[in-house]
Amino acid sequence: MKIAVIGASGSVGKAVVELLEIEHEVIKLGSNHGDIKLDISNRKSIRTAFDKIGRVDAIINAAGTVAFKPFGEYTDEDWEVGLQSKLMGQIRLAEEGSNYLNDGGSITLTSGITADYPIRFGISAAVVGGAIEYFAKSAALEAPRGIRINVVSPTVLDESLAAYGDFFPGFLSIPGKEVAKFYKRSILGIENGHVFKCFAGNS
Ligand SMILES: NC(=O)c1ccc[n+]([C@@H]2O[C@H](COP(=O)([O-])OP(=O)(O)OC[C@H]3O[C@@H](n4cnc5c(N)ncnc54)[C@H](OP(=O)(O)O)[C@@H]3O)[C@@H](O)[C@H]2O)c1
Repeated sequence: MKIAVIGASGSVGKAVVELLEIEHEVIKLGSNHGDIKLDISNRKSIRTAFDKIGRVDAIINAAGTVAFKPFGEYTDEDWEVGLQSKLMGQIRLAEEGSNYLNDGGSITLTSGITADYPIRFGISAAVVGGAIEYFAKSAALEAPRGIRINVVSPTVLDESLAAYGDFFPGFLSIPGKEVAKFYKRSILGIENGHVFKCFAGNS
């Protein structure tokens, strides 16, 4: 398979690339690193990137930022970060990317555990993560040519504990290589409109 991974240099993306590169041709994309640069908050940038890549069998997104603030302290600009990057960025990617997918191809997006289990300062992450899951559930039903759309929702990665661990006190973490298997299942399996929740035990 020819697979485009957006956010390939990140903690999630790196693990996904490592697993998929064993058996597939992987094109790495990111805002600063990778084979091809793009900005998912800009529709034209997505089109330009895919014009360079051509048709693919799967698109995986592991990019998207949100602001972390206490309730009442989010400015409109803080909200826009998550809305334009993680939410609309992934929606744009699905909309534009689907035009470059082969029949029966797939799009796999990324949400996160905070949509189900809130963390302090995680309101925007919860809102955006939840919205992307509902986007996928609905868009998957309308996508043409047998294209499937799924979401992977990881708990905090082992590799990210140094950076975000304090936001997830007592949460069970997961190695990136385990999360990567859910992306593999999403592209090689038959599930559609599905949210793969990688946080067993975090109830
Ligand atoms: N890490 C975790 O524990 C965890 C847990 C649950 C959910 N998630 C979610 O998973 C996603 C990835 O997280 P991460 O920790 O792997 O992030 P990360 O390590 O900060 O990496 C982010 C990646 O996204 C790319 N990127 C950022 N903004 C972009 C843009 N506007 N257009 C294109 N590419 C962009 C970066 O590219 P460059 O390096 O080229 O700039 C980088 O490859 C996020 O949505 C996060 O909320 C992460």
